Amino acid sequence: SHSPSFTIKASSSSTTIAEPEGIKINSVPTKPIEGQKTGTSGLRKKVKVFMQENYLSNWIQSLFNSLPPEDYRNGVLVLGGDGRYFNREAGQIIIKIAAGNGVRKILVGRECIMSTPAVSAVIRKRKANGGFIMSASHNPGGPEYDWGIKFNYSSGQPAPESITDKIYGNTLSISEIKMAEIPDVDLSRLGVTKYGNFSVEVVDPVSDYLELMETVFDFELIRSLLSRSDFRFAFDAMHAVTGAYAKPIFVDKLRASPDSISNGVPLEDFGHGHPDPNLTYAKDLVNTMYSENGPDLGAASDGDGDRNMILGKKFFVTPSDSVAIIAANAQEAIPYFTSGPKGLARSMPTSGALDRVAEKLSLSFFEVPTGWKFFGNLMDSGKLSICGEESFGTGSDHIREKDGIWAVLAWLSIIAYRNKDKKPGEKLVSVSDVVKEHWATYGRNFFSRYDYEACESEVANKMIEYLRDLVSKSQAGENYGNYVLQFADDFAYTDPVDGSVASKQGVRFVFTDGSRIIFRLSGTGSAGATIRIYIERFEPDASKHDMDAQVALKPLIDLALSVSKLKDFTGREKPTVIT
Ligand code: G6P
Ligand code: ZN
Repeated sequence: SHSPSFTIKASSSSTTIAEPEGIKINSVPTKPIEGQKTGTSGLRKKVKVFMQENYLSNWIQSLFNSLPPEDYRNGVLVLGGDGRYFNREAGQIIIKIAAGNGVRKILVGRECIMSTPAVSAVIRKRKANGGFIMSASHNPGGPEYDWGIKFNYSSGQPAPESITDKIYGNTLSISEIKMAEIPDVDLSRLGVTKYGNFSVEVVDPVSDYLELMETVFDFELIRSLLSRSDFRFAFDAMHAVTGAYAKPIFVDKLRASPDSISNGVPLEDFGHGHPDPNLTYAKDLVNTMYSENGPDLGAASDGDGDRNMILGKKFFVTPSDSVAIIAANAQEAIPYFTSGPKGLARSMPTSGALDRVAEKLSLSFFEVPTGWKFFGNLMDSGKLSICGEESFGTGSDHIREKDGIWAVLAWLSIIAYRNKDKKPGEKLVSVSDVVKEHWATYGRNFFSRYDYEACESEVANKMIEYLRDLVSKSQAGENYGNYVLQFADDFAYTDPVDGSVASKQGVRFVFTDGSRIIFRLSGTGSAGATIRIYIERFEPDASKHDMDAQVALKPLIDLALSVSKLKDFTGREKPTVIT
């Protein structure tokens, strides 16, 4: 049975409570704190907010108050993080509250380091009840910047909204935190420390994850590429968590040259960087890849290691193309998919490139709202293997998170497979060759995203309201400049597995030629609002595929700006980020 050995102690002063054998549990009185509602991906705030008395503790206790006791009592939880400022202190707090609530064991990455995909992998492998990830993903870290916490469930997927809503509800009524009175755990040494029935195991953050990667990919094939003298690889860990993974995996296991890794040491402030792998924030890598005689394949990952960017020599692979190309090549280049992917899926704003692959390969296909959690049910029910998002997320059902290093290994596999018979001196098939071939076969979905960061929330909400109103009045067949409207709506999704409904997931205008303009507010910011505009156009004619995306999309971008009256609402002349 599940019942741990709890003994009820006569209530003395402030401490009451049932205790697992051998540790004392204190009841710490607390009061509700406003604003602890989780966004797209956990709770994110300025670290100074999290460092306020009981702010973190309240949320963690509210989480335990929200879970059915059988989901954690006497159970095992994993604890990881991206190495940012405050993680070590926060880790100690989480361990004490977990012990205070009757968790039997915590598996924690050394120094609290463990990437989001690795946490998902460890939860699955060790059959844990769930896990915490201390990360604000790609948001900057350090005393002036962001902190965040995510909770993943037993199959390794982000907690569903039903749970996060409950947590929020409980943050509004919390009165007590259950904290075990145990010393801070030495998180620098591998091994198990016991406190009565409760134990903490400090684990190597890489080994379980690496073991999984070796079952997914053909490491020998990748090694054959990375050890060639006519192929150069560049990986930018952005001083974030994949710094801990890059050397053991790419260099030690796969024989990439040590100098192919840059910013390979995780730092609390990411070296003053903004660890978001895109054309704006991964500027150093982009410059390297666009320099004369630059490397052949470049990649970067974000704060917690779930995002990725892929570049060829002077060539950017959009995330929407990347997932489509991985899906199209998976069966031949990646052993995990030897019998073919089960199904494909993308988030709504992601371009339709993947749809065309699904059609050609006769695979089932799903379009879900933004947020990786929407893929989980499809994977659990065996309907989905490969999926991706325009927001630099790519992955598969090997875990229940997007996976930056997985995406890099997938691309290395594809390039290695294409070149496996090439003799030294023969010209290699390049990243851009693979992408252009793909376009020639499937057509090209030109895609771009414009971000307007740190807008006033009220203004951003007004603009979305205005668009919703426009949508409600719109009619198929109406002209928008040179485009004819097929339909406009505010995207809603019904999960085919559990029937849950997510509404108001983004306003979209879809035109008769397949072009789309989409408006959404980011769910991952920590202050103000970020407006995102997604623009897409399909071009079947290969003679037009070399066009620059910004040029090809100009008329639609202008249309998006005029339809939304964005400049009037926000006063912004230009986006802050273009991807
Ligand atoms: C996180 C989630 C992704 C999602 C992204 C959207 O990274 O893990 O699944 O696509 O946020 O971010 P946004 O800021 O657009 O809400
Ligand atoms: Zn991330």
